[in-house]
Amino acid sequence: MSKLFSPLTVKSVTFKNRIFTSPMCMYMAEDGFAGDWHLIHYGSRAMGGAGAIMLEATAVRADGRIGVGDLGIWKDEHIKMLSKIVSFIKSTGSIPAIQLAHAGRKGSTWASGGESRPLMPGEENGWELIAPSAIAFSPAMQTPREMTLKDIEEIQQAFVDAAMRALKSGFELIEIHSAHGYLINEFLSPIPNKRTDHYGGTIENRARFLFEIIEKVKAVWPSDLPIAVRISATDWTEEGWTISDSVWLSKELSKKGIDVIDVSSGGMIPNAKITVGSGYQLPFASTIKREVKDQLLVGTVGMITNAHQAETILTNGDADLIFIGRELLRNPYFPLVAAKQLRSEIPVPKPYELAFK
Ligand SMILES: Cc1cc2nc3c(=O)[nH]c(=O)nc-3n(C[C@H](O)[C@H](O)[C@H](O)COP(=O)(O)O)c2cc1C
Repeated sequence: MSKLFSPLTVKSVTFKNRIFTSPMCMYMAEDGFAGDWHLIHYGSRAMGGAGAIMLEATAVRADGRIGVGDLGIWKDEHIKMLSKIVSFIKSTGSIPAIQLAHAGRKGSTWASGGESRPLMPGEENGWELIAPSAIAFSPAMQTPREMTLKDIEEIQQAFVDAAMRALKSGFELIEIHSAHGYLINEFLSPIPNKRTDHYGGTIENRARFLFEIIEKVKAVWPSDLPIAVRISATDWTEEGWTISDSVWLSKELSKKGIDVIDVSSGGMIPNAKITVGSGYQLPFASTIKREVKDQLLVGTVGMITNAHQAETILTNGDADLIFIGRELLRNPYFPLVAAKQLRSEIPVPKPYELAFK
């Protein structure tokens, strides 16, 4: 049996294999509501055999969306359709997971596929942005309002409320989105965080916003269900957040009872010089894995596109989980095909059995 297709138990949850769908914004929601698109999109990938299906960055507040089409979990009415998606995912033997997000200074856009256009507060569908400091992401984007202590508390509560709705919907894993230059990442990085209170300055202060969210979420999220945090391991600039900061953060997260660290990178500054290529973010994950050892499960993501590549990452001990994004957009059945290539057992949906013999 390959490592990729061996089951993994985290707390009370058993993943049938180590392929997780990486969260990917669809921008297909209306007023945050999931619809048929989401059911079919996530449902197909569940039928395709991934161990966990992670729903895209799902906004904890309407004004925490990246774009107007973001999925949302800021009101109880969102639960009904999310539950339907969850129930279908579970029926395939996959684990339903959801990424909880607030876009911070990178919100208020019209986005679709790879395109995005900033929307100003007075404009139709636009809203006022908030961030740790009043510094715009780029000259084209609006300058956010610096968050007050009351804002900080309200946003943290929005994460707690969202976690409770995720639980009511039946999700078994939540991921706190602390990557890609969105709100939590904006607190972590010294580039957009110029605060002079106890949420800015030292790394401990910059991490406080995230640590408090974790503490508050853990008070409502069952202790036998796992929590993941996605980070940007580096801002890809020397003035920003670095891999050694990420190693420190990972160790702190393990002490705070986080189960999985999902290691991505970038998104903090426009036009960062990123070396992109096959498995390009793996060195960050493996550096973290070497440091945290068994205290934390480490996920890697980024241009992992074939079964043997994924298997080698696991057998080398560079990571514990493989998040796959675009390859699963191209081919939702990637896990079923990969299992065959690695001569591993995987449950195949009955009507598809003839195709995978
Ligand atoms: C269409 C699209 C939407 C994405 N949306 C999200 C998102 O909602 N949350 C997130 O953390 N990353 C998001 N990402 C990043 C992916 O999760 C993944 O980390 C990235 O695409 C690299 O992995 P890949 O090479 O396997 O695609 C998105 C990527 C794509 C292509």
